[in-house]
Amino acid sequence: MYKIPANTLFMGKNLVFVPECPSTNTLALEIGQQSPAKEGTVVITDHQTAGKGQRGNTWDAEPSQNLTFSLILRPGFLPVNKQFYLNIVISLGLYNYLKEKTSDPVYIKWPNDILVHGKKVSGILVENQLKGMQISNTIAGIGFNLNQKVFASSSAISLSQVIGTTLDRHEELPLLLGHIESRYLQLRQACMAAPSGDYQPLMDDYLAALYRRHEKHLFSANGALFEGTIHDIDEWGKLRVETSNGFRSFGIKEISYVD
Ligand code: BTN
Repeated sequence: MYKIPANTLFMGKNLVFVPECPSTNTLALEIGQQSPAKEGTVVITDHQTAGKGQRGNTWDAEPSQNLTFSLILRPGFLPVNKQFYLNIVISLGLYNYLKEKTSDPVYIKWPNDILVHGKKVSGILVENQLKGMQISNTIAGIGFNLNQKVFASSSAISLSQVIGTTLDRHEELPLLLGHIESRYLQLRQACMAAPSGDYQPLMDDYLAALYRRHEKHLFSANGALFEGTIHDIDEWGKLRVETSNGFRSFGIKEISYVD
């Protein structure tokens, strides 16, 4: 049984558990639309049958082995042009949780995959609803490979495989939520800093954890292969890559990692 976390201020205080559903992101969206759900509501399932991933991909997770949930957030304080900071704080929350669990290197692969040993331990799907220049509602979906031992893809791994022990998902959820909440509160504080917010500390932490930063690798964009070196992220959350033609910025669907 999932318990209401004792270590958070608001994250997970309202917890909706369903044994099975197609997608917790879709369910969270419906819950948020039916009634004004409390900020920090967690919608969690043991068996997601049609999980949604980024770029229209699916997210597959073995039943009862992993953490598969969505957070309902109301970041009305965040300017629309800073919405990538939601991806940043969720990624950093997961990163901080993992750093507590393992001394192995953990990386954030832009835009928001979390890697250990170069393999994906967690993926995030942030869906924002905008009202004018405000973000009225955010659904932050998190798939976290906790205890799964066999994956269809060789590029996936679970935390249990990393540390060699099985984890209790009911105990791990509050720990994860605690880390996400503190990064989210950091963002709220950052927005309030005069005159127009101070986002740099969050960006610095994100860049410090960024996978393959400052390394030369092969990428593909618009059907063309090219060598490039990840430099940083622009204020819209685009990846800035140094190429032989100078710096180029790419949105989420505009570039793929090749090697
Ligand atoms: C990705 O890496 O492509 C993002 C994966 C996000 C998966 C999670 S699982 C919980 C939530 N519900 C969904 O349908 N997707 C997200």
